[in-house]
Amino acid sequence: MKKTFFIATLGLGLIKIVVVATLGLSLLPAACTNKGNVITTPVPARAAGQTDVLQLAVDPIPTVRVAFIGLGMRGPGAVERITHIDGVEVVALCDVLPKNTAKANKILTNKGLPAAQEFNGDADVWRKVTALPNVDLIYIATDWASHAKIGVQAMKDGKHVAIEVPAAMTLDEIWALINTSEQTRKHCMQLENCVYDFFELTTLNMVQQGLLGEIIHGEGAYIHGLQPYWDEYWNDWRMTFNKAHRGDVYPTHGLGPVCQAMNIHRGDKLNYLVSVDTRAVGNPAFLKEKRGEEVTDFKNGDHTTTIIRTQKGNSILIEHDVTSPRPYNRMYQLTGTKGFANKYPISGYALDKGEIDPALTANHENLTAHSFVPADVKAALMKQYTHPIAKDIEEKAKQVGGHGGMDFIMDYRLIYCLQKGLPLDMDVYDLAEWCSLIPLTEISLNNNSAPVEIPDFTRGGWDKVQGLQFAQ
Ligand SMILES: NC(=O)c1ccc[n+]([C@@H]2O[C@H](COP(=O)([O-])OP(=O)(O)OC[C@H]3O[C@@H](n4cnc5c(N)ncnc54)[C@H](O)[C@@H]3O)[C@@H](O)[C@H]2O)c1
Repeated sequence: MKKTFFIATLGLGLIKIVVVATLGLSLLPAACTNKGNVITTPVPARAAGQTDVLQLAVDPIPTVRVAFIGLGMRGPGAVERITHIDGVEVVALCDVLPKNTAKANKILTNKGLPAAQEFNGDADVWRKVTALPNVDLIYIATDWASHAKIGVQAMKDGKHVAIEVPAAMTLDEIWALINTSEQTRKHCMQLENCVYDFFELTTLNMVQQGLLGEIIHGEGAYIHGLQPYWDEYWNDWRMTFNKAHRGDVYPTHGLGPVCQAMNIHRGDKLNYLVSVDTRAVGNPAFLKEKRGEEVTDFKNGDHTTTIIRTQKGNSILIEHDVTSPRPYNRMYQLTGTKGFANKYPISGYALDKGEIDPALTANHENLTAHSFVPADVKAALMKQYTHPIAKDIEEKAKQVGGHGGMDFIMDYRLIYCLQKGLPLDMDVYDLAEWCSLIPLTEISLNNNSAPVEIPDFTRGGWDKVQGLQFAQ
């Protein structure tokens, strides 16, 4: 089959895609096509009778019975946090390793709670857990390779699922989670905690109140040197994936909060992306120095940069770097027509004069967007615009903790919405959009940074809901 091969050239500030040759050899994965210089991937048709799960609400579950699968570095913290929420029972704990389920059970029994049933042994032991009759929610914190298959089976077994980031690594996995959620009418939420950090939540509220005007550009990142952790992951799963894949393999922390501020699939949608990476230096050097391992074809570049354009004509820039010697950075930057928000490395707001309560600016006559508002104005703004969902639980969240409290707000909101029978804050299409960068950036990079279409995972429903709302 004849396939097309691209070269991206930079000229006069414009990216021009030039079709240079039509070759028998292709860099496109099977089933991808090229439409107007944008690579597209197949969108499976819905089965007869299958409908979307936008705003999915199910019967209230006053006491949520939870089973945890995956209790390595991340999972036990979730077990601990959930014990601070009323109306929750932890009924099962599952991990390949018996020592991990035993350790997690201690968290329960040390608090005087009943021990949960433990499941361990081989890598398929989780199947017994998804099949349990006395479970409402399966909370998955295993390695990336097993997230989607456990999630799909759990929904088929009649459970709601919450899956750690990234919940899916391939387009097939993403579509399987969507189709299963649509067919079973079960919730499938990705546990993206960064949307609940205090600065992000407050800024989202400012955006929703119109303080920043219309958001036209957003930036997000995962810049976090993982050297202290590489040797701690079970079976070396994280390095193994990075060795084998180019692309932004961990995009959801950066992309999630920006998509929420831009109302993605709630009035706008992600249309296409272009990705560029650097060569791989840091991780191969780590492997050589720490493990004596010589890897000459390490796939994941040190730094990957991705740009997305939306249907409404907004842009998003997302970066990934887990090896360079840089301070932790998720960026979180929003450019609006009336103001600007930036979290890392300096957290602050810049606003057009006159756009904020005059009482706040009374002593700052020269307030302009040329610089961040002074610290006292920022503090007053953050107080005034505290997000309604954070108001009552902010203090408790800070005490319980989990990345400063955002993890607790995430768990609290998940349980709150299940108990009240409300739509969850994040649906399976958020999961799909945010995870889709993993396979789609890899396609772009393997085709000389060609633009790649981001599928409409709602299959036509992206503007049915107008504006993101957290149900109360
Ligand atoms: N949201 C966040 O801030 C955040 C932070 C850290 C990790 N994570 C995510 O959490 C997940 C887990 O990361 P981690 O750091 O805990 O990794 P880890 O390697 O420490 O833990 C994974 C655990 O899963 C278990 N496991 C693997 N396959 C299993 C299977 N088939 N059945 C049962 N148990 C199985 C392993 O024994 C291990 O204990 C990853 O998806 C990671 O990206 C998210």
